[in-house]
Amino acid sequence: MNAALAIVLVQLVCLCAQIQASILLFNPEKKFYSGTREIPVLSSKPIPSIIQDTKVYLFPGGGRKVPYNYVDDTGLLTGFDVDLVTQVCALVGKTCKTINLPFTECVFTYEDIDYAGRGLMSQWIDGCPGYATTIDRRNEFDFTLPYLLTEGSFSVLPGNPKGFDPGVDDYSAFTLVRLSGAPTNPTCLTRLKKKYGRFLIASSRPEAQAMLLNGTADVLFSPRQVIKGLDTLPVRVRCDDGGAAIMLRKGSDLPTWWNPAFQTFYFSGKYADFCAKSVQKYGRQAKCLPSPEEASPELLAMMSAAPPTPVRISFSHEALNKPGVILNMTQTSAIFVVCAIADKRCVLMLAQVAECTTRDGELLFPGRGLMEGWFDGCTGYFETVDRDNSWDFTSPYLVSNASFYVRPGNPSNFDPTLDDYSNFVLVHADTAITNDHCLNRLKKKFNVLLDVPTEYEAIQAVLNGTADAWFTKRKGETQLEELSPRFHCENVGTSIMAKKGSDLPGWWNAAFQQFFSSGQFTKFCQDKGKEYNLFFPPTRLDLMAHEDKSVMTLIRLKSRTTISMDMHQSVSGPASKAKPASCCM
Ligand SMILES: *[C@@H]1O[C@H](CO)[C@@H](O)[C@H](O)[C@H]1NC(C)=O
Ligand SMILES: *[C@@H]1O[C@H](CO)[C@@H](O)[C@H](O)[C@H]1NC(C)=O
Ligand SMILES: *[C@@H]1O[C@H](CO)[C@@H](O)[C@H](O)[C@H]1NC(C)=O
Ligand SMILES: *[C@@H]1O[C@H](CO)[C@@H](O)[C@H](O)[C@H]1NC(C)=O
Repeated sequence: MNAALAIVLVQLVCLCAQIQASILLFNPEKKFYSGTREIPVLSSKPIPSIIQDTKVYLFPGGGRKVPYNYVDDTGLLTGFDVDLVTQVCALVGKTCKTINLPFTECVFTYEDIDYAGRGLMSQWIDGCPGYATTIDRRNEFDFTLPYLLTEGSFSVLPGNPKGFDPGVDDYSAFTLVRLSGAPTNPTCLTRLKKKYGRFLIASSRPEAQAMLLNGTADVLFSPRQVIKGLDTLPVRVRCDDGGAAIMLRKGSDLPTWWNPAFQTFYFSGKYADFCAKSVQKYGRQAKCLPSPEEASPELLAMMSAAPPTPVRISFSHEALNKPGVILNMTQTSAIFVVCAIADKRCVLMLAQVAECTTRDGELLFPGRGLMEGWFDGCTGYFETVDRDNSWDFTSPYLVSNASFYVRPGNPSNFDPTLDDYSNFVLVHADTAITNDHCLNRLKKKFNVLLDVPTEYEAIQAVLNGTADAWFTKRKGETQLEELSPRFHCENVGTSIMAKKGSDLPGWWNAAFQQFFSSGQFTKFCQDKGKEYNLFFPPTRLDLMAHEDKSVMTLIRLKSRTTISMDMHQSVSGPASKAKPASCCM
């Protein structure tokens, strides 16, 4: 083994551990209090290593959350969060202000998945106070240390006319509703081991309430403790994994100064004093953390953890675009290896596909997230001639190809080897790369290529005879019959798609090449295969050795290296298609 690489791999292990820690939980690290519970005596004077900066940090308030942030009788935005943020910032010489913004700038829900809002990602604001830390949110967000407790509750119409009982294990006889972006979501119920049926999303509390009133929904599952006009049942559940904190853009370095400042605030007793004044100042008791004297060992450990290391690079990782899925090191570790070789810190996050790419008719455009620098690359995209107009790509790490599917028995006798398909009706899903441009590049004549929204409609169209053949890169569709041969619509294979002019492909390709040609990539796949009891076919290094064009060798090699992991496809198609991803990317 090459010595230089061995060092890299050691670094990688450390880096992975750090990243995992920051993705998963606040690890107690070495500061765990053993034996008697010592409470550290921290002075409340500014921490010396913190340099006064001139930036004004902005935090949003929605203006309707008594006692946390609300517009008071005089019209002033005030509350527990507003004052706490100002005081903690002042401890370390930071200037922090609160502005009124809709909560959707922090988080929004689309098809049951929460995404980071524009305000946070485009850095209008530096963090969103008062958000529960949950397993699913850690896919898109970082968090500071928690500063509040949070609970989920169930609210019903006065008198609970439907007789909903939160204590039972099966809620499927009731229609639940939650608020957009709330942590009280289906994955939380799954973690609580509750069965549920219909689960609707309301865009606001009044809308949820109206849904209860007109019978569209039976139960509102929310983090609210009191809702005027509804009965909130006494049972409380936890959807969070530590409390409510300031929710951050992935990779934010705010915790590097906020956490020490908040620790000072907490351990000095100022936090408890501040909480004690909450009723008097804001008219309602804030749900505060227990004081250091009353805190559990777990909470004390969390509160005294070292601040997480800042991260710099992030990827949108659509493959994990499923609610409640925590980014899994097995699935993502090769990305971290490559980053480590390149001496970059990388982190993965979820984003909507539209943040990477949007489409207008036949034209493909780069998404907002990529263009505004919310993240640096989108994993799992083919480089095609069309896409080269709008993006840059790394070298491919997967091979993929396309084929035609027909009704079982091929009743219209479609022959993919023909040069002229004009006598047949073809169909494709409208965002697929198996499009007219691909047919043109393959020098196939054709007359009709139907555009349908998803693969589902494409399959239906072939089954019901509207189309003769479905052109797709999908493999293993069982309702239809696949014809050979397979064709290449993409230039080379699956890559990371980056903003035009991005420096990512430069450093990534060099690092990947190094990882790959060392043989460590192969070994990595084998080790991970053993660890997770999955088959990751080993790399054929001999293919690498004889080629001089790295791009070409990568394709060839990839076809033998990785199990199918077509991230883009697994998102745009039906959920049943989601496969376990390979170790390799
Ligand atoms: C019930 O109220 C919701 C929210 O206002 C509304 O969207 C829905 O259409 C209403 N349904 C009926 C049956 O009135
Ligand atoms: C066949 O399926 C397609 C796609 O779902 C649909 O648009 C079309 O109306 C169907 N045609 C018939 C005859 O059922
Ligand atoms: C198509 O891809 C599969 C792996 O996904 C590979 O085994 C096969 O050789 C490829 N076919 C062509 C023609 O590239
Ligand atoms: C990660 O993914 C692998 C394979 O999909 C799975 O076996 C393993 O349990 C996962 N690990 C975690 C921590 O979820």
